[in-house]
Amino acid sequence: MIDVPELALVALVGISGSGKSTFARAHFKPTQVLSSDYFRGLVADDENDQSASAEAFDVLHYVAGKRLAAGRLTVVDATNLQPHARAGLVKVAREHDVLPVAIVLDVPESLAWERTEARPDRTFGRPVLTRMYRDLRRSLGSLTREGFRKVHVLRGPDEIAAAEIRYEKLFNDKREVTGPFDIVGDVHGCLPELLALLAKLGYEVVRDDAGRAVNAVHVDGRTLIFVGDLVDRGPDSPGVLRLVMGMVAAGTAICVPGNHEQKLARKLNGRNVQLTHGLPETLAQLSREPAEFVGEVKTFIEGLVSHYVLDGGKLVVAHAGLKEAYQGRASGRVRSFALYGETTGETDEYGLPVRYPWARDYRGSAAVVYGHTPTTKPEWINNTICLDTGCVFGGELTALRWPSRELVAVPAAREHYAPVRPLAAASRAEKPDEGLDIADVTGRRHIDYAYGRTTVAAENAAAALEVMSRFALDPATLVWLPPTMAPCSTATVEGYLEHPSTALADMRAAGVSRVVCEEKHMGSRAVVRVSRTGAGDAIWTRTGRPFFGPALDGPLLARVRAAATPLFDELGTDWLLVDTELLPWSAKAGGLIRERYAGVGAAGRHALPAARAVLDQVAARGLDVTALRDRIELRSSEIDGYSAAYRAYVKPTDGLTGITLAPFAVLAGAGVSYASKDHGWHLAQADRLVAADPSLFTTTRRLVVDLSDPAGEAEAIDWWLALTAAGGEGMVVKPYAGLAVTDDKGRLVQPGVKCRGREYLRIIYGPEYTRPEQLAGLRRRNLGRKRNLALREHGLGLAALDRLAEGAPVWRVHELVFAILAAESEPVDPRL
Ligand code: CTP
Ligand code: MG
Repeated sequence: MIDVPELALVALVGISGSGKSTFARAHFKPTQVLSSDYFRGLVADDENDQSASAEAFDVLHYVAGKRLAAGRLTVVDATNLQPHARAGLVKVAREHDVLPVAIVLDVPESLAWERTEARPDRTFGRPVLTRMYRDLRRSLGSLTREGFRKVHVLRGPDEIAAAEIRYEKLFNDKREVTGPFDIVGDVHGCLPELLALLAKLGYEVVRDDAGRAVNAVHVDGRTLIFVGDLVDRGPDSPGVLRLVMGMVAAGTAICVPGNHEQKLARKLNGRNVQLTHGLPETLAQLSREPAEFVGEVKTFIEGLVSHYVLDGGKLVVAHAGLKEAYQGRASGRVRSFALYGETTGETDEYGLPVRYPWARDYRGSAAVVYGHTPTTKPEWINNTICLDTGCVFGGELTALRWPSRELVAVPAAREHYAPVRPLAAASRAEKPDEGLDIADVTGRRHIDYAYGRTTVAAENAAAALEVMSRFALDPATLVWLPPTMAPCSTATVEGYLEHPSTALADMRAAGVSRVVCEEKHMGSRAVVRVSRTGAGDAIWTRTGRPFFGPALDGPLLARVRAAATPLFDELGTDWLLVDTELLPWSAKAGGLIRERYAGVGAAGRHALPAARAVLDQVAARGLDVTALRDRIELRSSEIDGYSAAYRAYVKPTDGLTGITLAPFAVLAGAGVSYASKDHGWHLAQADRLVAADPSLFTTTRRLVVDLSDPAGEAEAIDWWLALTAAGGEGMVVKPYAGLAVTDDKGRLVQPGVKCRGREYLRIIYGPEYTRPEQLAGLRRRNLGRKRNLALREHGLGLAALDRLAEGAPVWRVHELVFAILAAESEPVDPRL
């Protein structure tokens, strides 16, 4: 039986004809085996071209590296008789922190020669084989020294034929252990605090005859995990060790080693270590224990595994944390990172090494729970959390409940040991900085999110980066952007491009039975985030820019905050994210209206009467210009309609005076996305805001329609006609059930389709668009792209709200928000 770690680089070692390729075929999948012959063939068209060996191994190492990086067992089928050849393999294995394993096929030279002679593809003479045999004999003694962590030597054809591979899990692989867990930070000999914490967590302590705590059991079968640094500095390191050792032996706890245990074990092994950082205290305490106990401590520490991957791979525990590439791997540097972390090589003002902020760069999906660095308050940074709250320095002893992620702490009885660096200073230095990385958003990127997957093209990312970096709010604030909205299918009613009958039909076709028709306000989309304290509050545009600037945004937010205060209490949140339209349109788009629309209107209103006057003179001379005159009349009325349309959205404002907000959805609060709430709920919250400050907020008129009721459709059409006749832009038809509605195939349904008024569309498609020949052309408009874009942006936004609610790292929310902005640079007809 040959034990091979599930993740390893296996080197087959043997002379030609020893049966390596045969062995590989029998025991491994073809894709797991990288044979030097094959790679020679790849680079030189000839598997036997020895002059191509260097190039072939170069490629072989490269492919091996790719496989190992992806965590795949890799077998190298080559003679591997030369130390330098094996060194190359050990190097690749180390680079990917996997264990190098050697399987030696040791057959008599005579047998190998017999086989070789029978092979047409092996043409070398006996002396070559003899040399190989000599190299093999030399190799046998040195494989372990060269770095192979396991060396299996199969002697003779019978042993080789009988061999079976047995895969063994890595020691750190506890993915099948699912908890629930209570993960305890650095204890440092603080036994009374540990016992208090265990009591608070609901553990029942088991004591021995002498009354010493030797185990602790939870009624719900929870498991404790210790992140290491059980010893040093505190009052009772032996007591802590006795309890933890007892629990590990009883299976009620799991423990990883800390650097302090490591150093203690070295000392107990008679090594010369510096008696600093609280080790003398531990040694003094241990000197009062029987030698047998001290021996058990040594054995216990030496048996500890430097990190564990738990709960299906969702949780990683290591004393000093662990970067993603090292998780579930085994090597010296993995162990070193787990125990000590990486340092930058600098020292701080207290003479302590500056730790490399690996958590800031962490992008792994497994939560990493660790200790090692005292902080005043544990905080999640990119799905990692440090639980060392400096109990021994007079701070707290903290536990994290998993999977609920709840923190439970008890205060230190006193300052047991004076810290070199004040605790507060340490935490200031370690202040959560989730460190956004430009690589998270640039280039061509594939994004998987709850509602689908999308690819952001590099050029769209570049455009979004331009906006984000130069104009937008801080990504930590900018947690959501509104999706674009598709218009309803083109109307079938004569004279209309958009009409309620098709808007309702669209929703019906998507399997929606009940809709809400909401008045479409003509203003500027504004997303508002307000909180009880005002910290982090902001109002932003659909491209993530601050709205007017601090002078106006601040007072505006203060009023929203005041109106929202009862909602904070009622919804049990400290902040809310509200989707609104800011009115009037001219407040933000005054320049656009003047330049793009008013100019057309003014030109028409001046030119057409002049033309009419000329035609009147011509007619007075008896010439028939009726047709031309009619055309001028028509254009005149079209221009009047056009001017009236945009003028409806122009209102004077002065500072905040005249500005109102029309809220229509409450998107999220602390730890919650409200996407699943129906629109009745959303509008009820909006109405509360309107009631609280009617001069700031504008109500959104709405009509709920049951799509199976024919009278409902007629009512909706009348409602829309009245709304648009009074100068309204139109309506948005939304599935009543909420923001995240899916169809019977589980696909997201459009969050709404817009149905714009006949006159409003004049300012979009031009004054003359209602003429039959123009309408006929516009009716051929293609909505596919716009719809896809709307759905993609909507899904990304919903996922951003979900991730925000889960407390995901900033970069995880931001990559989605960024993708929404990037999607906006897709070339889509802007009139849709
Ligand atoms: N062979 C055999 N009985 C075995 C193993 C191998 O007869 N138990 C034969 C194979 O069929 C093949 C020859 O011996 O014709 C060499 O075996 P192979 O597995 O190809 O040996 P390798 O060690 O891979 O030789 P090389 O280093 O030359 O690739
Ligand atoms: Mg072979």
